[in-house]
Amino acid sequence: MAKENCIISLQGVCKSFGNTTVVDDFNLDITKGEFVTFLGPSGCGKTTTLRMIAGFETPTEGKILLNGEDITKIPPYKRPINTVFQRYALFPHLDVYDNVAFGLKLKKIPYEATDKKGNQVTKFRRLTAKEIDAKVAKALKVVDLEELENRDISTLSGGQQQRVAIARAIVNEPEILLLDEPLGALDLKMRKEMQIELKEMHKKLGITFIYVTHDQEEALTMSDTIVVMKGGYIQQVGTPLDIYNEPVNAYVADFIGESNIYNATMVGKKQVRFLGHVFDCVDDFPLNEKVDVVVRPEDVILTKTEESKAKSGELLGKIATKIFKGVHYEYVIMVGKAEVVAQDTKEREIGDIVKIEVEPANIQIMQKEVTSNVFSEAWIDNKNRVMISEFPFECDVTQLLPGSHIDEEDYLIGKDGKVYDLDDADVIAEIDLADVEVSDIENEEALSGVIVDTVYKGDHYQVMIRTELEEEFIFETMYTWNVNDIVWITVPKEKIKLKLKGDIKKYVKE
Ligand SMILES: Nc1ncnc2c1ncn2[C@@H]1O[C@H](COP(=O)(O)OP(=O)(O)OP(=O)(O)O)[C@@H](O)[C@H]1O
Ligand SMILES: [Mg+2]
Repeated sequence: MAKENCIISLQGVCKSFGNTTVVDDFNLDITKGEFVTFLGPSGCGKTTTLRMIAGFETPTEGKILLNGEDITKIPPYKRPINTVFQRYALFPHLDVYDNVAFGLKLKKIPYEATDKKGNQVTKFRRLTAKEIDAKVAKALKVVDLEELENRDISTLSGGQQQRVAIARAIVNEPEILLLDEPLGALDLKMRKEMQIELKEMHKKLGITFIYVTHDQEEALTMSDTIVVMKGGYIQQVGTPLDIYNEPVNAYVADFIGESNIYNATMVGKKQVRFLGHVFDCVDDFPLNEKVDVVVRPEDVILTKTEESKAKSGELLGKIATKIFKGVHYEYVIMVGKAEVVAQDTKEREIGDIVKIEVEPANIQIMQKEVTSNVFSEAWIDNKNRVMISEFPFECDVTQLLPGSHIDEEDYLIGKDGKVYDLDDADVIAEIDLADVEVSDIENEEALSGVIVDTVYKGDHYQVMIRTELEEEFIFETMYTWNVNDIVWITVPKEKIKLKLKGDIKKYVKE
């Protein structure tokens, strides 16, 4: 059921090209007069969705309703919808007036007439020059270009050209205006100005805007509603505030702004552990649940201290970088191998030791489906092993550079013969739950830990092991294991997937 005052309703819309599905089960109701933004990275299906609304593409499945009526099969020119494209597609040989008037000159409008036999019939006529004049003048006024009517397109700035493109779309008085990255070609300053102007036009015109961008700031400042997309799916729909403050998952949190995102574990009632530290929080999740935690940089509280003065239970970090951002400084603080981004109006120095605190309410906790073990603070040692929880696991580092091999001195050799020294390289190591091998027989060559949790998942158990350094491994098993038992963990060399943090070029050997 479409909601009240709904102008456009997409219901189970899918679009495939060949075997590739690029929009999947898209469900969205847009209210009359709303400013809706589709936000997502390149290739996530924004333009395709817009083109289906405009009628340039037909959904493979599902339907699109306009004011309650199915328009899925109606051609574009019969829809009260106009599009502004990223490339303005203006006619360079025509002036501003003629560019805006172009569509109107071709337009035929219906009128009722009586034919020779006295029957009522619908006839079509073109708009008169006077009518066209009036419509063009009105559109140019909205985009603030009245003065430039007779200018050649080629003499206009990018921003002015974009305004002409908008005028050309609104001159048809559409019910819905689609804007596909309309500001993408403008420089930052011009883009900011046009953002404000577009917002004002939206207010003035009172029509529905569906806007596409991959710029989260643009989406946050302009929209009533943001639709965050990824890989053809809707991730979250909400107001800018909702999406910023209550992202439904780590993807949205990461996409919507500068954030600290950590793998974390619930370790007590309203207590969550990340950065090797236990924080109080306000969300109550089951004990030992693996969660994602988001902390906004503006919510990190810093206090200068010294290592020698630190009390137990305090989380300390060392300032690694500092950037002045106008009103505040942005710091990257290292806590072991993990980074914390913080904003603070106080100036601090690189190398300063700071105490890090976060108010419980500012720790956003999100449920997470654990599908693999991800160790985001792993690194490579001088024998090309990956260090997880300070324990060296044999692994295949050639996966970090396609076509590479290891020479007899343990250097990584690229296809092109370049030599890389991966000693101390920071990596993310991933191990599938099924690839963690666990034994209760003591093994000096394995990493030991204690079983802290076991959950029955319908046809198998998910068991959590915690190491002495409080790293957690989850594995799947058909057997029951006992909490508090000590176990030894091994992982087959080829089952550890590695991703380099940063560029491999950093490790070229001089
Ligand atoms: N006509 C087509 N035939 C085959 N594949 C297509 C076609 N149109 C789009 N695609 C594919 O569909 C996916 C989604 O494309 P779409 O243009 O909707 O992405 P987008 O979110 O608008 O990205 P961008 O931000 O780069 O504009 C892409 O992988 C694209 O290559
Ligand atoms: Mg696009």
